Amino acid sequence: MSEKSSRGDVPQKPRHVPQGVEFARGPEAFHERRKAPTRTALISPEIRTRGTKNSDSSSRFDEFASLARAIRLNIISHELVPVRNTRPSTFFGPGQVSTMADEFEQNNIELVLVDTALSPVQQRNLERDLGAKVLDRTALILEIFGERAATREGVLQVELAHLNYQRSRLVRSWTHLERQRGGFGFLGGPGETQIEADRRQLRDRVASLEKRIEKIRKTRAMQRKPRDAVPFPLVALVGYTNAGKSTIFNLLTGATVMAKDVLFATLDTTVRKVRLPHGKDIIISDTVGFIADLPTDLVAAFRATLEEVVLADVIIHMRDVANPDHESQAKQVLAVLADLGVNPETTPVIEAWNKIDLRPKLKADLPAPKPVGTVETTVEISALTGQGVPQLLSAIEGALAKGSRTFDVHIPHEQGQNIGWLYEHCEVLEQAAPAKTTTTYSIRVTPRHLSEFLNRFNGQLSRKTNS
Ligand code: GTP
Repeated sequence: MSEKSSRGDVPQKPRHVPQGVEFARGPEAFHERRKAPTRTALISPEIRTRGTKNSDSSSRFDEFASLARAIRLNIISHELVPVRNTRPSTFFGPGQVSTMADEFEQNNIELVLVDTALSPVQQRNLERDLGAKVLDRTALILEIFGERAATREGVLQVELAHLNYQRSRLVRSWTHLERQRGGFGFLGGPGETQIEADRRQLRDRVASLEKRIEKIRKTRAMQRKPRDAVPFPLVALVGYTNAGKSTIFNLLTGATVMAKDVLFATLDTTVRKVRLPHGKDIIISDTVGFIADLPTDLVAAFRATLEEVVLADVIIHMRDVANPDHESQAKQVLAVLADLGVNPETTPVIEAWNKIDLRPKLKADLPAPKPVGTVETTVEISALTGQGVPQLLSAIEGALAKGSRTFDVHIPHEQGQNIGWLYEHCEVLEQAAPAKTTTTYSIRVTPRHLSEFLNRFNGQLSRKTNS
């Protein structure tokens, strides 16, 4: 087995199965309850069929390390393990398992993270054979989401996704049901081995979570109404995790959303107002990053937080074109968008090819970006240096104008309410000198407000300047 990262010191204390790492919400609680970071080994299986090598494996290897770094673990080693035939019982071959077991014993490894989807049986057998807790990719992503979720709804959604994932793994215990913490128990807890899985308790918990989430959603829907009435077009930033969404969001809005080289720094959507060069205001939203093999029910769980994406007038797809794997990342993002019900034929998508500043420093064989799916336009940018940002803003302006339609509306002077509505929901391009009974306004309306506009001003529209 090849080893990619340096090992830590060989520990003095005897080997033990972890008694648990406790995470808690908020930094103080974290310090109070946290024990030493878990000694962790990462395993990236490299599936080989007939001597072929998976071309994505190197960036996937790095990505897995970044995922593991997203929660505080003491990473002792990271190995790429070639797998020719996966075993139903242990995933890896017996020889590989025994080599790993020896290594992990020497290094006093407490937790093994495997970058694949393990069946419950494989997970249990590996835990037995390796003498350490074993988590797969889904469990790790859920653990990160569990820690990152900041809103009450986000916390509940992740817990629900976690419970659904764990339903098939009732061999594991349910310590998280008793604990109030950010992560959801994969990393163990006191008495984990003693607590019996209780299917009924689990079912009740799922039902109660679903009810609570539904209630929050209803409240959100009610609170959202005024937001829908906001005249400003909605522009949503989407992208693979670490693409630079928060960095560009901060640059455009002057906000300070956490932008870090940590995956999933942003979990809950943030929205701010931005003024475009020609004076038009837009609402821009920063959303959760997507990732390969994102558990489907986690996508569903975040559907509510991703409403901004579904309602958006324009979508900016941030792509990290300095990542060798950028094309397959973009495809993953499109798949999630499709899953959310976004249709790029009706919602214009701007691809922002980010981190352009890094490309010259990287290997020449870095694949050249090309648009993926139906794309309105592409812009090369650097969210870090600001390069290309004016072009991005113009692209947003262009995309909005394209989807919008302009009209001349004649409004009788006494229709004060309608005039007010017009100013609130449309862009008034020109107001003619008042005529005897009416005033003519040249306006631009976005698709979001078009049908209400047409209903309201039916019969008062004299000239359509474009359509
Ligand atoms: P998630 O929260 O995981 O979805 O990430 P994100 O898409 O919001 O990425 P974020 O803005 O947090 O950026 C990730 C890392 O990339 C940070 O370290 C940024 O400083 C860096 N970064 C973002 N844009 C650029 C860029 O244009 N050039 C360079 N060199 N680095 C960038």
